[in-house]
Amino acid sequence: MKVISFLIEYFKSPRTVGAVAPSSEKLAEKMVSDIDFENAKCIVEYGPGTGVFTDKLLGRKKQDTILLLLEYNKEFCKRLEEKCNRYDNIIVINDSDENVDEHLAKYNIEKVDYVVSGLPFASLPKNGSNKILEKTRGILKSDGLFITFQYTLLKKEFITVYFKKIDMERVLFNVPPAYVFRCYSC
Ligand SMILES: C[S@@+](CC[C@H](N)C(=O)[O-])C[C@H]1O[C@@H](n2cnc3c(N)ncnc32)[C@H](O)[C@@H]1O
Repeated sequence: MKVISFLIEYFKSPRTVGAVAPSSEKLAEKMVSDIDFENAKCIVEYGPGTGVFTDKLLGRKKQDTILLLLEYNKEFCKRLEEKCNRYDNIIVINDSDENVDEHLAKYNIEKVDYVVSGLPFASLPKNGSNKILEKTRGILKSDGLFITFQYTLLKKEFITVYFKKIDMERVLFNVPPAYVFRCYSC
């Protein structure tokens, strides 16, 4: 069901959805494996889609940790709202990640510990991607972490401009195989 609705949304908007199927469990595990759930006060997820990474975050976050989900696609947002309605401190917003700072300001959140991203930078417009990466650097705490995945290394240089250091790991059990980037601001 998840796979079919993902595919339908891909055909409606291929460049924004950027993949024909949700990420694998293995990739989702890797995406959250560096998060210090005990101490995180606020986690933002960009482009959660049907919520494969969200499930991991919901399952591990402390009750008082704020999780803000920012998803552009209306259908995905509806599913995310249903998924999250029994959890505390979850904010689901149907908007572009380009406006992440404005949404955080509404909730009086100045800085966040982690940004977990499912955004397909390879197919998104360059201006929008620049804006998102610039804002991401601005909202992260000095020891915060931006975690994103990409199917190729084509956008590595592009992302590197915004961060001091990037660690990379390959996840083969995903269609297609993916690279997880952990991006540090200091
Ligand atoms: C490759 S899918 C990843 C979905 C999910 N994270 C996963 O890994 O299965 C990309 C997601 O990013 C969303 N997206 C694309 N551009 C966006 C933007 N500017 N703001 C918010 N979400 C966006 C798409 O709607 C889609 O849900």
